[in-house]
Amino acid sequence: MLLKLTILPGDGIGPEVTDEAVRVLESVTDIFGHQLEVARKPVGGAALAASNDPLPDDTLLCCLASQAVLLGAVGGPAFDHVPAAKRPEAGLLRLRRELGVFANLRPAVCFPALVDASPLRAEIVHRTDIVIVRELLGGIYFGQPRSTEGPAGYRVAIDTMRYAEDEIERIARVAFELARRRRRKVTSVDKANVLDSSRLWREVVNRVAGSYPDVKLSHTYVDSAAMALVARPAEFDVMLTENMFGDILSDQAGGVVGSLGMLASASIGGKVGLYEPVHGSAPDIAGRGIANPLGGILSIALLLRHSFRLEAEARSIESAVNAVLNEGCRTADLARYGQPTLTTSEMGKKVSQAVKQHAPAVA
Ligand code: IPM
Ligand code: MG
Repeated sequence: MLLKLTILPGDGIGPEVTDEAVRVLESVTDIFGHQLEVARKPVGGAALAASNDPLPDDTLLCCLASQAVLLGAVGGPAFDHVPAAKRPEAGLLRLRRELGVFANLRPAVCFPALVDASPLRAEIVHRTDIVIVRELLGGIYFGQPRSTEGPAGYRVAIDTMRYAEDEIERIARVAFELARRRRRKVTSVDKANVLDSSRLWREVVNRVAGSYPDVKLSHTYVDSAAMALVARPAEFDVMLTENMFGDILSDQAGGVVGSLGMLASASIGGKVGLYEPVHGSAPDIAGRGIANPLGGILSIALLLRHSFRLEAEARSIESAVNAVLNEGCRTADLARYGQPTLTTSEMGKKVSQAVKQHAPAVA
């Protein structure tokens, strides 16, 4: 198979981790006999510096012409003072919208070797295996009106949390379909005791649930979900939620399973799938070669699974990550008790070797 990808390294640790993700992808395509065609394009702050646009046309067109996109991260303190429309984050939000990727899947899995990397007790985090299904194109991230108006000292700023029934319905279906392939449990997270948008959310999710009698649905308020996520993380299977709640809970889930650096994501449902580690640009450690590339590497596994239906290839990466963690490989964010640490590229090489070692015999 020919895999035609666009790589958007972006800002901060984005370039370091995407390099390792591509290294692992090359091992997989070698072993399984696929061809890889990769174009690298600027996005976010990197694009702003070069062309005064966080999502240049050339970058967007290249993404739209490829079969899948891998993005590193965007943003950083250097861009805190640029106008809202030019912020690196605005480029990413526009990219999500242009690609039409309304469903963001964020698996949070506690790898057995990492139970001690979690700030939670091992018996609590053990067996945690959650997928957060985050609605990605609606809610307060995109709702209109939004504005900041008025004279200095008296300004008023507005954001709008807005959901239409069809937006809720399509993301709910993704969650229920996914649950059918897992432990058949959906927890829908909202704030229906306060927000109209959440009351509509709950009603539509209940309606969709009617088509999935084999899936157990429960509803939780977001504050209570945040508490349950640290108190009983292993009880969640699929967590379905709106855009901003999903943003917040997915970082928390990263903390629960030991490091945000482990989390991968798939944004799907549109023209072209977009895959990104959840961690962001981490400006404090950028350029030092110490970032954890596993979130980016695991995002490649999601890319192979969701954009190309290459399940064996996806699993080869997930097993390789599991194997190197079992061998004791740790980047700085995962190391404990003075354990030796690997650099970003050492970790990438380890996973890449493990992919080759554990490769099935294929022609
Ligand atoms: C994420 C990030 C983004 C988001 C930012 C960079 C716009 O935090 O993917 O979780 O809020 O969606
Ligand atoms: Mg986030």
